[in-house]
Amino acid sequence: MKTRLALFALLVGIAFSCSQQPKPEEGDPIDDQPQERVQSELVLLMLQMEAHIKSLKERQGRGDSVLPADFIDYAGMLTLATTRGMNRDAAFDKNAIDWMNQLKALTEAAGSDQKEIYNGLINSCVACHKNYCPGPVKRIEKLHI
Ligand code: HEC
Repeated sequence: MKTRLALFALLVGIAFSCSQQPKPEEGDPIDDQPQERVQSELVLLMLQMEAHIKSLKERQGRGDSVLPADFIDYAGMLTLATTRGMNRDAAFDKNAIDWMNQLKALTEAAGSDQKEIYNGLINSCVACHKNYCPGPVKRIEKLHI
């Protein structure tokens, strides 16, 4: 499972980043450079969050409920190293804490309320991303039920 997660993180990490890379002009020397990118600790945490939330979506798709044991503390959002140039501020911290409260609420809610709370959780991912990391917004929106 760990290996699968790491592999997933690797594949996803190559394909996405916060900002959409502008396409280099034809003949631009950048064309010949491999596009390497070091993933920050926060990006690695995000990839775990994404895989986790996706598994909760699949579970709900099968008609099963999310359970209290599904809660994972992602407080690392507040402290882990970010990509250089990415600044966390008070609004970021508030969004991160709201997000974690919504995840907690989802895991404790009655099955019949879970769809609405889950979609609110995804809106909270999107809200933060619009402000701090717009690249993956479209992809995150696909997590809605
Ligand atoms: C409180 C703000 C916040 C929340 C909530 C949040 N993200 Fe993020 N996310 C970020 C930031 C900032 C980065 C970039 C971190 C960096 O570059 O160091 C990021 C990075 C990512 C990446 C990696 C992008 C890349 O560079 O390859 C993915 C994928 C992602 N987030 C998905 C999600 C998903 C899915 C959710 C909800 C389940 C979520 N995020 C919730 C702020 C947030």
